[in-house]
Amino acid sequence: MALKKGTKRWLSKNAAPSFGGKTVLITGATGGVGLKTAELMVFLKARVIMACRNLEKAEGVKEKLLGEYPDAKIEIMLLDLADTRSIDLFVGKIDNDKTDIDVFLNNAGVFHKPGEVTADGFDMVIGTNYLGVFYLSEKILPYLKTLPHGVDYINTVSIIHKIAKIDYNDFFYRRKYGNFRVYARSKLCLARYSYELSRRYEKTNVRIMMNHPGITITPLGINAFGRFVGSAAKVVSGLFNSNEKSALSVPYIMSKDIKAGSIVGPSKLFGGWGYPKINRVGKRVMTGAYELISFTEKTIRDHNYTV
Ligand SMILES: NC(=O)c1ccc[n+]([C@@H]2O[C@H](COP(=O)([O-])OP(=O)(O)OC[C@H]3O[C@@H](n4cnc5c(N)ncnc54)[C@H](OP(=O)(O)O)[C@@H]3O)[C@@H](O)[C@H]2O)c1
Repeated sequence: MALKKGTKRWLSKNAAPSFGGKTVLITGATGGVGLKTAELMVFLKARVIMACRNLEKAEGVKEKLLGEYPDAKIEIMLLDLADTRSIDLFVGKIDNDKTDIDVFLNNAGVFHKPGEVTADGFDMVIGTNYLGVFYLSEKILPYLKTLPHGVDYINTVSIIHKIAKIDYNDFFYRRKYGNFRVYARSKLCLARYSYELSRRYEKTNVRIMMNHPGITITPLGINAFGRFVGSAAKVVSGLFNSNEKSALSVPYIMSKDIKAGSIVGPSKLFGGWGYPKINRVGKRVMTGAYELISFTEKTIRDHNYTV
């Protein structure tokens, strides 16, 4: 732990000097980009809420952060995006405690889980990365709308959404499962939904945004590209974005007057690498939301959950 000099230099030029007084909630803050985002936020004096499915792991991460930043304000909440009951409890607690939140980052995600299903029986990748975030968003946004200040609601997508397709006749790829295809679809669905949300919340205090980390070596990244690439990446680390650089999209969004519905992330090497910038939002993200949302609501309703 400890941020690199280059990161601090970049922050001094591109981010507000402090986020003191702000609360940033990060899902999946136990590792990879989520953990680095938590560190950046703590460094910039924000209070951090780590929303995680593994409380023991989260406690370990909190200890490490406190070792480096003894004054850090860090809380942990239980959230399993692969379980709608867990999402209900999580949202209920926030609502009950009237938790103040300035930034809500839906960072948690999974790749490569063939055959695994969520507690509600959905394919694990689409179920977590899209349906879980969809269900959570529908439940938490009405609460965030009541807060007396601006809120940034950021959904983490991936550049791979640019090559994804949606087929409602085989939404979960039951016929021909492919790791990249399923993951790409989950992220396209999330991007399309997020873009539509940004329009629906245009005249409210909630700014809906998207970010992406480029290509960075994390457990998820290694899962996607294989152990060989993971090991090679340690040798030629400059070829991949560091977790730290990938996490900079969040302070960037928090500090800039960027239009709702934008995607912020690296833009060099086809979006895989570099410091964050505003990316172009493609037609496949901007169209088709009505059909997607109707399909999603029906899919969730058919499992006896209401959105
Ligand atoms: N790495 C890349 O190159 C890349 C590229 C494009 C997009 N992304 C996206 O960036 C985000 C972060 O990825 P990463 O690479 O940092 O992955 P990572 O290191 O594998 O971390 C993923 C995080 O999500 C959490 N998580 C997984 N399933 C969850 C669930 N059901 N409920 C709650 N939390 C859950 C994990 O918790 P545990 O610690 O309990 O496992 C972990 O904290 C993801 O949305 C990913 O799709 C990554």
